[in-house]
Amino acid sequence: MTAALERGESMSLAGADFAPQHREILDALDEVLSVHREGAALDRVSAALQQLATVTQRHFETEDRWLADTTGASHAPHIQVHRHILDYMMCVRRDLECPDCPCMLPQLRFLDYWLTTHFAQSHYT
Ligand SMILES: [Fe+2]
Repeated sequence: MTAALERGESMSLAGADFAPQHREILDALDEVLSVHREGAALDRVSAALQQLATVTQRHFETEDRWLADTTGASHAPHIQVHRHILDYMMCVRRDLECPDCPCMLPQLRFLDYWLTTHFAQSHYT
């Protein structure tokens, strides 16, 4: 996680303070990575991934409403990206149940990279 994210910078945009939701998501992400790293049972990893998806979906719903209210429909691609990453999260969670699926670490690292990058960018302009 970047120092800026830890300090909550670059998260307040045009009156919208997304820092608490971003913090909640990054905490959930840290929990997923932690339980995976410690080799926890798959049901714990799955529950942590579900929690990550739940808080991420709640944030994206808030952000999507904010984008629609403040900017209109011009950010439809951004909203579509939110849907794609949520779908990906749920695919990763479903893959946990597949005994033939390879190690989850690359997928979890991708989620870590994507979420931290997405939150650190000023992506509303
Ligand atoms: Fe976004």
